[in-house]
Amino acid sequence: MKHGYSGDQLQVFKKANIFYIRKIYKNKARAQISIFKQSSFTRITSGNYQMTAVPILGYLNIDDKIGIEMPYISGEAGSDLMLSGYIDVPKSLKELLGMYLSSILDKSDIKTMDAKPGLKKIEHIKSTTPLVWHKYLDKGKEFFIKEINKKDVPYPSGVCHGDLTLSNILYKNGCFYLIDFIPSTYESVLSDIVKLEQDLTFGWSSRNCAREVACDLALFSRSATPEVINLIKSHNRMAFDAIEILNWLRIIPYIIDEKTEKFVTKTLDQIFSSK
Ligand SMILES: Nc1ncnc2c1ncn2[C@@H]1O[C@H](COP(=O)(O)OP(=O)(O)OP(=O)(O)O)[C@@H](O)[C@H]1O
Ligand SMILES: [Mg+2]
Repeated sequence: MKHGYSGDQLQVFKKANIFYIRKIYKNKARAQISIFKQSSFTRITSGNYQMTAVPILGYLNIDDKIGIEMPYISGEAGSDLMLSGYIDVPKSLKELLGMYLSSILDKSDIKTMDAKPGLKKIEHIKSTTPLVWHKYLDKGKEFFIKEINKKDVPYPSGVCHGDLTLSNILYKNGCFYLIDFIPSTYESVLSDIVKLEQDLTFGWSSRNCAREVACDLALFSRSATPEVINLIKSHNRMAFDAIEILNWLRIIPYIIDEKTEKFVTKTLDQIFSSK
C-alpha cells in the first residue's frame, strides 16, 4: 500500500495473474470530482499515438470512503519517461498535449476571476507553515488583492485535469495514460498549463536527477512543450500569473527535503521577480 502526497491510498492487487490498482480517496467530495474527470475524459489520437485516462473498471464504497479500481499500467512516467530515450515520444506528447489544451480551451467559458478562493488557500497554507515561508505567502496575497480582487480579470473557466505533471502521465506502447485527476482551485486550462510548466519549464519531476543528464532532460522538455501554451498565456497573462503563484505556494506544505526547499525557494524568487 502507498500513500501519495494527497493522503489517498493506493494498493496493487492481482486477479487471474493480472495486476490492478485500487485507489481509495481520503476525501469523498473531492473524490467525486476526480472520478468524474477521469471517467469523462475524451480519448485523443494523433497518428499512431493516443492520450487517454486510465479506464475505471470498478467503483468501491468502504465505510464513508469511495474508491476506484483500474488496470495497472506498467509504463514510464516523470523523469523516467524524460530519460527513456524514445525518439518519437516527446514529439507525440507535444502534439497530444497541444490538442488536449486546445480542446479544453474550446469548451471553456470566459469568466471574471474571483480572488477569494486563492486568498483562502494562501491563508490556509500560512496557518500550517513555518514563518520562513510567510514572506512568499504575503507576496502572493498582495498579488491576489492588487491584481485580481481590485480588477476585472477574465479567464477561461472549464474542467481541467487538475494535476497535469509528467508524473501523472504514464507512457506505454504508444499510449499516454493520464492518472490522478483532481479538483482545482481554479478549474481552467490555465491550471493545467501551470502544472505542465512546473515540469517542462522549471524541472520539478527531474529536480533530483544527476547533472550529467541535464542536457537530455532539457531536450525532452523543449521537444514536448506545445506551442499553444504561449498563445493561451499571452491572452490571459494576469490570471495565469495568479494561478502560477498559487501553484508554487501550494507546494510549500509538502516540502520535506533540503533539495526541494532550495528548488522551491529559487522558483518562487524567479516567479515573483518576473511579475
Ligand atoms: N493505474 C496505474 N498504473 C500504474 N501505476 C499507477 C496507476 N495509478 C497510480 N499509479 C502509481 O502510483 C503513483 C501515485 O498515484 P496517484 O498519482 O494517482 O496518487 P496520489 O495520491 O496523488 O500520489 P502523488 O501525490 O504521489 O501524486 C503514481 O505516480 C504511479 O506511479
Ligand atoms: Mg500523482
